[in-house]
Amino acid sequence: MTVQPIRLFGDPVLRTPAEPVVDFDAELRRLVADLTETMREASGVGLAAPQLGVGLRVFTFDVDDVVGHLVNPELSFPDEEEQEGQEGCLSIPGLYFDTKRRLNVVAKGFDMYGDPVRIVGTELMARCAQHETDHLDGVLFVDRLDPEARKEAMKAIRAAEWYDAGAPPAVKLSPHASTSPFGLGR
Ligand code: NI
Repeated sequence: MTVQPIRLFGDPVLRTPAEPVVDFDAELRRLVADLTETMREASGVGLAAPQLGVGLRVFTFDVDDVVGHLVNPELSFPDEEEQEGQEGCLSIPGLYFDTKRRLNVVAKGFDMYGDPVRIVGTELMARCAQHETDHLDGVLFVDRLDPEARKEAMKAIRAAEWYDAGAPPAVKLSPHASTSPFGLGR
C-alpha cells in the first residue's frame, strides 16, 4: 500500500468521467489499498480513484469508523428527503461550503473481489456516497452549489495558495483556434 499524491482542482482528470471496472484483479485490489491508505493519511471521509489520477469507477469511504470501498456504484434514492451541511473535498483542500444533498441513499455495487455490495446510507454516509459517485462522473461538489454560492466558491479556489493558476484551463477549445497563427500553444 502506498500513499499517493491527491490531484487538485484544475487537474483535467477530475473532470473526466471514469470507466466501469471490468477486471476484479490484483491491480484493482492495489488501487483500493492505495485509495484507503491515502484517504486515511489525509483524514478524509472518502476518496475516489480519479483523485489519484486513475479513471476507474471505485471509491473508498471512512464514515463513523466504518472503512470500506465500492466498485461500479449505482445510487438510488428511497425518498425525497434532503440534508443541508458543510461539504469539503481533498481535491479542494481547506474550503468548505454548504451543499444540499439527498438525506438517504442506497448504493449498489461490488467489492474488490466482484461480490455484490449494497449500502443503505443516511446523513454523512449518504452525503459521502453522492460526493464520491459525482467524482466518478467528473462532477465536483462546487458544481452542486447554486450559481451565487458557486461564484463565491470559485473565487475562494482561485485565491487558495495551492491553486495553480498556470495549469491549463479546463475549457473546450473553439474550432477556430486551429486557424489562429498562434496555433494551440499557450
Ligand atoms: Ni471529493
